[in-house]
Amino acid sequence: MADVSIRQIYKQYGSVEVIHGLDLEIADGEFVVLVGPSGCGKSTMLRMIAGLEEISGGEIAIGGRVVNHVEPKDRNIAMVFQNYAIYPHMTVYKNIGFGLRTSRLPQADKDRRIRDTAKILGLTDLLERRPSQLSGGQRQRVAMGRAMVRQPAVFLFDEPLSNLDAQLRAQMRLEIKKLHQAMGTTIVFVTHDQVEAMTLADRIVIMKDGYIQQMGTPTEVYEHPATMFAARFIGSPSMNMLPATGTADAAVTLAGGARVPAPPSVNGALQADQALFLGVRPDHLLVTEPGAPGALHLEGTVSVIEPLGPEALVYVTIGDRELVAKAPAHKTPEVGASVHLTAAGEAVHLFDAQTERALC
Ligand SMILES: Nc1ncnc2c1ncn2[C@@H]1O[C@H](COP(=O)(O)OP(=O)(O)OP(=O)(O)O)[C@@H](O)[C@H]1O
Ligand SMILES: [Mg+2]
Repeated sequence: MADVSIRQIYKQYGSVEVIHGLDLEIADGEFVVLVGPSGCGKSTMLRMIAGLEEISGGEIAIGGRVVNHVEPKDRNIAMVFQNYAIYPHMTVYKNIGFGLRTSRLPQADKDRRIRDTAKILGLTDLLERRPSQLSGGQRQRVAMGRAMVRQPAVFLFDEPLSNLDAQLRAQMRLEIKKLHQAMGTTIVFVTHDQVEAMTLADRIVIMKDGYIQQMGTPTEVYEHPATMFAARFIGSPSMNMLPATGTADAAVTLAGGARVPAPPSVNGALQADQALFLGVRPDHLLVTEPGAPGALHLEGTVSVIEPLGPEALVYVTIGDRELVAKAPAHKTPEVGASVHLTAAGEAVHLFDAQTERALC
C-alpha cells in the first residue's frame, strides 16, 4: 500500500495546457474519487499517475518515491479501464493469471494468488469458464481480478462501471466499496457520475477545465460547496440558484423583492449591493403552508410533478424561473396549484455572482 503525492502537476498537449498546476495528496489506503464533466482532465490525471502519459511539469510520488521517470510497470500500480479487455479464448483462471505473466513468483504461489483473488471476487466456481459464458458483471470482476492479483500498492480506476446497465452498476459499486473495506488499498477512481462519487469516496475531488474546484468528504462538498459549479455538480436534482443582492444589514433581497437574512456563517463577508446567487437544494426547499417558519419564503405555481416513490419532485414556476422542491408523496400538490416554498436559514447558500465562490 502507498500514498500518492501530486505536486504542481501540469499537462500540455502541444501548445494547449489541459492540467494547470494541481496539488493533491492521497493518503495510504484512501479512496479518492476524481469527478467532473467530460474533458475536465480526469483521465489525463489518472494516466499521469499510471505513467501512461508524460507530465509537462511538477512531480508525482508513490509511496514516497518520485516516479516521474519510472516506467508504468515499475510503479506498483494497477489500472482498470472502462473498456476492460479480457481475452475471449482464455478461461477466467488464465485471464486473472495474465496479471502475473511477468511476475517471478513460483508457480505454486501464482496459483494461490489467483485462487485467493477469485475467492474475494466470488469467481471461484467460474474459474474454468470463458468470458462468453459470463455475465457483464462477472466479466468486469475478472478484469478487476487481473489487476488485483498483482497486489498493487495503488488501484487506478477510469470509469470502470460506465458500460454496465444501471442495476449492475449499483451492484458493482457496492462490490468495489466492500473490496476497498476488505483490502484497504489506496484507490483513485475517476467518474463523471456524482452519485458514484458520493457513494464510493472517502474524499471527492471536483474538477473543471483542468482545475480543482473543491476537495472534501462527500458530506463536506454536499453541505459546504465552495463554488457554484461544485454546488450544482453534486446533488440531484441540482441546487436551485436565484439572483440576489446584498443589503447593508446582513441580508439579501431576491429579484421578486423577498428578503432573506444571511446565514450566520457568512460573518460579515456580505456587502451592500453585492451581486449574488442564493442557492438552496431541492431536498431543503419544502412545500409548506403560508406562515410556516423559515428564512426563505417564496410563492409560485406548480408546473410539473415527478413522483419518485416515497417523495416527489415538485417543479414550481416563480416569475420567469423554475425551482424544484421535494415533497412527501402523500402531500404532493396538484399541477397548477399555488404553493408556498420555505427553507431554513442553514439551508441557504450564498455565492458571489462575479467569482462564483461561496461567501461562507
Ligand atoms: N492525446 C491528446 N491530445 C490532445 N488533447 C488531448 C489528448 N487527450 C486528451 N486531450 C484533451 O485534454 C482534455 C482532458 O481530457 P481527459 O481525457 O483527461 O478528460 P476526461 O475528464 O477524462 O473526460 P471524459 O469524462 O470525457 O473521459 C480534453 O480537453 C481533451 O480534449
Ligand atoms: Mg476520461
